[in-house]
Amino acid sequence: TTTRHYQFDIKMTNVTRLCESKSIVTVNGQFPGPKIVAREGDRVVVKVVNHVPYNISLHWHGIRQLLSAWADGPAYITQCPIQSGNSYVYNFTVVGQRGTLWWHAHISWLRATLYGPIIILPKLGIPYPFAKPYKEVPIIFGEWWKADTEAVINQALQTGGGPNISDAYTINGLPGPLYNCSAKEIFKIKAKPGKTYLLRIINAALNDELFFSIANHSLTIVEVDAVYVKPFTTNTLLIAPGQTTNVLLTTKAEYPYANFFMEARPYATGQGTFDNSTVAGILEYKNPTTNVPQMVDRRFFFTVGLGENPCPENHTCQGPNGTMFAASINNVSFVMPTTALLQSHFAGKSRGVYASDFPIMPLTPFNYTGTPPNSTFVTNATKVLVLPFNTSVELVMQGTSILGAESHPLHLHGFNFFVVGQGFGNYNPAKDRARFNLVDPVERNTVGVPPGGWVAIRFLADNPGVWFMHCHLEVHTSWGLRMAWLVLDGSLPSQKLPPPPSDLPKC
Ligand code: C2O
Repeated sequence: TTTRHYQFDIKMTNVTRLCESKSIVTVNGQFPGPKIVAREGDRVVVKVVNHVPYNISLHWHGIRQLLSAWADGPAYITQCPIQSGNSYVYNFTVVGQRGTLWWHAHISWLRATLYGPIIILPKLGIPYPFAKPYKEVPIIFGEWWKADTEAVINQALQTGGGPNISDAYTINGLPGPLYNCSAKEIFKIKAKPGKTYLLRIINAALNDELFFSIANHSLTIVEVDAVYVKPFTTNTLLIAPGQTTNVLLTTKAEYPYANFFMEARPYATGQGTFDNSTVAGILEYKNPTTNVPQMVDRRFFFTVGLGENPCPENHTCQGPNGTMFAASINNVSFVMPTTALLQSHFAGKSRGVYASDFPIMPLTPFNYTGTPPNSTFVTNATKVLVLPFNTSVELVMQGTSILGAESHPLHLHGFNFFVVGQGFGNYNPAKDRARFNLVDPVERNTVGVPPGGWVAIRFLADNPGVWFMHCHLEVHTSWGLRMAWLVLDGSLPSQKLPPPPSDLPKC
């Protein structure tokens, strides 16, 4: 196998946008960060050296990390953060995946400025399942705040209200000419007429799903989350934070000198404004080659949504009725531990770090349409859900819309899953399960749970480790819309998580 070496020096760098400059955390002084390019089957070794006064951890979003959970990166889940002045080498092999993924900081909200593409080419000599594009162009959406990122986080988390909205969305770090004071900060694709381009689109925004389109052109989706799909042509696509979408764009031969706008704009679902037309497109993509688990060992039902926490004394809170917003899965708002779960598990020292009693809800549907419960207060705890090796799991996630009605892009680390069903209203096992698509469902790592609707996924727990699952809207993650699965080792040597690397950071 080929090994691809990268050195990521985390440093502060001054960047000017919207006529104001500020110092941001970057990799090697670049914003957005450098791209990682590898072929399927390659080993990727990234040495991360932390030169900034913050704790750092990087995550390789969507990489399966087979038997390499130590390299996954979510702080306090698989590792302690890399402290200022220290380094850590992320070392993993890309197995069975090709397409576009991305990397980002996985601690606090530092992913606001620390992110970049991961491009996995097919093995040498293996073509794409579509005509070879003339050129490939990464397109990463982000959000830009004029304020210091730390101030944005503190405002959102200390008041328990919604975060201050960003000052601009960006494409490859550039806000574009529709914002004030941004006339020159424009991302451009210099295209030739009559050619096909592969756009590798990543939504790295913190808190918004985005619609994307290019005037007068259609987009043919060929891959999502590094899994090929049956090609699907559309004018507009919706992409949630955490998701990636590869599209083919064919430029028109008949307009050799024209300019067209490409635009991305936010999507926020609200009670009453959510309907079938809003999300149907992106989940209809079909995958021609799947290994959908046909039999399931365990079925789980998760309620996913917002709730509240009491306002601490002598504090002004901006959440519902003066409380603080919280978010939960099965009413547990996950509290980040102060040491990494994977390390505690590996050392057999879970006491005081996490509990293994993540609540199992009966498969009876939650009635999100009824009168809201008297209390929408959550339980705050660090709980994991334990799975024996190779458990085949069916998970139904019901969006509650008890408080607020937003779609939650749920991201699962360490696995791809199949989206076997989705619907509006309450999930009804008796009627809905019969309609699951077990033949050619889309396979991905991040899926939207609609407010007042549900989504059903299946995956095989064939990768030992602790795997984070969370809403990829950053403010919801911080409010506790997150949990972790603990997948135990199997009995064969090839089914056991190897010991941690010697330079694994300590908390
Ligand atoms: Cu893209 Cu847990 O992250």
